[in-house]
Amino acid sequence: MTTRRLVLTRSAAVIGAASTGLLLPQIARAQSDKVRVGFMLPYTGTFAQLGVAIENGFMMALAEQGGKLGGREIEFFKVDDESSPPKGIENATRLVQRDKVDVLIGTVHSGVQMGIHKVARESGVLNIIPNAGVHVATRAQCAPNVYRASFTNSQPTLALGKPMMDRGHKKAVWISWNYAAGDEAFEGFEKSYTAAGGTIVKKLGLPFPNVEFQALLTEIASLQPDAVACFFAGGGAAKFLRDYAAAGLNKNIQLYGSGFLTEGVLQAAGPSADGVLTTMHYSDSLDTPRNKQFRLDYAKTFKAQPDVYAVQGYDSGLLLIKGANAVKGDLSNKKALYAAMDGAVIDSPRGKWTMSPSHNPIQDMYLRRVENKENKVIGIAGKAVADPGTGCRMA
Ligand code: PHB
Repeated sequence: MTTRRLVLTRSAAVIGAASTGLLLPQIARAQSDKVRVGFMLPYTGTFAQLGVAIENGFMMALAEQGGKLGGREIEFFKVDDESSPPKGIENATRLVQRDKVDVLIGTVHSGVQMGIHKVARESGVLNIIPNAGVHVATRAQCAPNVYRASFTNSQPTLALGKPMMDRGHKKAVWISWNYAAGDEAFEGFEKSYTAAGGTIVKKLGLPFPNVEFQALLTEIASLQPDAVACFFAGGGAAKFLRDYAAAGLNKNIQLYGSGFLTEGVLQAAGPSADGVLTTMHYSDSLDTPRNKQFRLDYAKTFKAQPDVYAVQGYDSGLLLIKGANAVKGDLSNKKALYAAMDGAVIDSPRGKWTMSPSHNPIQDMYLRRVENKENKVIGIAGKAVADPGTGCRMA
């Protein structure tokens, strides 16, 4: 169990503080006690880098506010969820009951998210999801205190089928990890690809976080589809890209993916990622002042290139800031807090997005190609894409 207290350091707090610092509200409580923010993220395992990027992005957003939320100081609590679903409820309970967090930021893995979701629904504690795309959290089990600043698992792949068919790739194999994120990404892919006239020759899978791809790559080679589409992320995605190229498949079977395939892994994957096509709600090369400034600030602060996870962490921070500023730091004023978050327009590096009635971003999808270790935008794959929020009834 790796829970530890963090205090926002001055160095982390000063980015942009001078230009955007807020005046302290004139309420005594704001000066005496701190907002308690809990991170429940993977800091070990195949998604470790994703957790770090999310935390970095989130801290950057707060630092731009002088390191405060609605004028109040912040105390941080942190749990490594290890992307382990069986430990999800216990870890979330720790943050909520022992650490008494006002808001829980987490997590990456859809299975772990379901543990957080149970605890969030039962306790009523505010939960901002900075990644995990599990459908049900913003569909049949949506909740007033649960907001997603990322995507639903089928959002990127619902934009994938058409570009594949536009390129004449009529027969495809699907491959991913067998768990909610892979299954739901497949759902979006199947819908969009078959609607565009494509045929799915075979659906392949392996357990999370297994990376023994060899037998499956041999099977793909013998099936000879026009294209392969997939969902992988983090360390596993880097290995899949390298193994796919090492098997020589990148020479004649075009690889596509839900954009996570090429996020945060382009250094590790090297030339094996060149030419891979993906759909995603962000791209490194988005030519906007907002994205350029974000990328510059992030690289300066963290000595690393930001990716979609960093953006989602940053946007989770922006969303919380909108809410906290509206209630001058009093997060117990839930009605006003949620009203501000419901109506938020997030000026994100990915482009402006709004919150759907079921609490999921309504956002543009980009078609990207990997070139020289960068995800380059080559088209818009969907404008203002909203998840249907099927079955959501806010209590
Ligand atoms: C998920 O489990 O929901 C998940 C994990 C990693 C990603 C995307 C989705 O990159």
